[in-house]
Amino acid sequence: MVSASDAALLQARALALLRRNVHQGHDPYLGRLYAYVCPSRRRYHWQWFWDSCFHAIALSRLDLDLAQRELLNLVSVQESDGFIGHVTHWGRRPILPIWGYLQSRLGLRPHHTALVQPPVLAYAAWRVFQAGEDTAFLKEIIPHLNLYYRWLAEHRDPDGDGLVSIITPYESGLDHSPAYDAMLHIRRVRPSRVITELRLRWLDAWHLVLSPNYNLDRILAWDRFVVEDVLFNCIYAEGLWRLGELDRAAGQHEQAGRWEDLAQRVEAAILSKCHDPATGLYFNLEGRAERRQRVLTVTALFPLILKTLPRARAEEIVRHLTDANEFWLPYPVPSVARSDPSFDPARTRFLWRGPTWLNTNWFLMRGLRLHGYAELAQTIAQGSAELVLREGFREYFNPLTGQGLGARGFGWSTLVVDML
Ligand code: GLC
Repeated sequence: MVSASDAALLQARALALLRRNVHQGHDPYLGRLYAYVCPSRRRYHWQWFWDSCFHAIALSRLDLDLAQRELLNLVSVQESDGFIGHVTHWGRRPILPIWGYLQSRLGLRPHHTALVQPPVLAYAAWRVFQAGEDTAFLKEIIPHLNLYYRWLAEHRDPDGDGLVSIITPYESGLDHSPAYDAMLHIRRVRPSRVITELRLRWLDAWHLVLSPNYNLDRILAWDRFVVEDVLFNCIYAEGLWRLGELDRAAGQHEQAGRWEDLAQRVEAAILSKCHDPATGLYFNLEGRAERRQRVLTVTALFPLILKTLPRARAEEIVRHLTDANEFWLPYPVPSVARSDPSFDPARTRFLWRGPTWLNTNWFLMRGLRLHGYAELAQTIAQGSAELVLREGFREYFNPLTGQGLGARGFGWSTLVVDML
């Protein structure tokens, strides 16, 4: 049981960490000042899209001014068509690492990649707005939000079913997740790091060869890696509902109605197309043919955050979540179920193939609360807080032993302050 004084300690440490991770300065190429919280001072230097959203959510409880600035800095590089890259490279950068070029439009110093990450932005903005009811902040951010979600809907839904598609595993946020192995022709359940990296970079390189400008029509038409990802789309749907609320708060009722209709459509598509009746779980859809994947990862549980998830469907998910052979391990919730052959609880520098991450715990906890599983939600919240108290703000944790792994001083693990 995490006591009130432990909770206060976590808050103080979280705030200190997020402030320590601030990078600021002047970007000579964009000709402007910047300030953002990097995910980890040693390992992740740039501004990452969904990390920033998580930082802002934690900060909405700790330092509202910094929370607002985090999101405004993120949207400040938005293209005129609405796009925002999954990594923004701020500051002096003589050259980028090679993958920075492979994931960006051709250029000497691309200021952001041409990829996206799960769209946590509207939810984060909603939380930051809720925390202060600051209408000046709302007025400043809302045009960016409307433009961003319009971009997603217009450019990432080639078959018009409401579900948006990703074009590389990096866009899912779960880089090396075994869910994508088959599409990358990775056949071993414990692949080598080198092979996996090569296959991923190869895909990026092909995109660039197909279109140096990352023209999505060409990339989507190629249909080599186009995935309607469950986790991405659940977060998209949640964002659309919150965007509707923000538009209403800004007096834009018609726009709000359009987002709510879309949110409904996205949820209905997830519930009908991704649902696997045999297991009651939800799987990503591959390519134009929409083949359903079968790998049992934490993604399969994500519809728990959907507003319109029927009670019986929630029960099905909770059955798997609480199954000790699948997700209910000593330190839940693992990124891959124990029953899946690819489950690998400890391998470091190989991401999302077993360990427990706090951002996914945070989503699942909220989903459980939303559907009336308060006690289970509390167990996940307490377990997450205990992990951080014992191991620090690590990037991820061994679900069997609780050992902290990956980067230290990792930004989004501060989400625990939002779980207590
Ligand atoms: C890893 C994660 C990704 C995260 C990034 C920065 O690439 O897979 O989700 O955004 O690190 O923390």
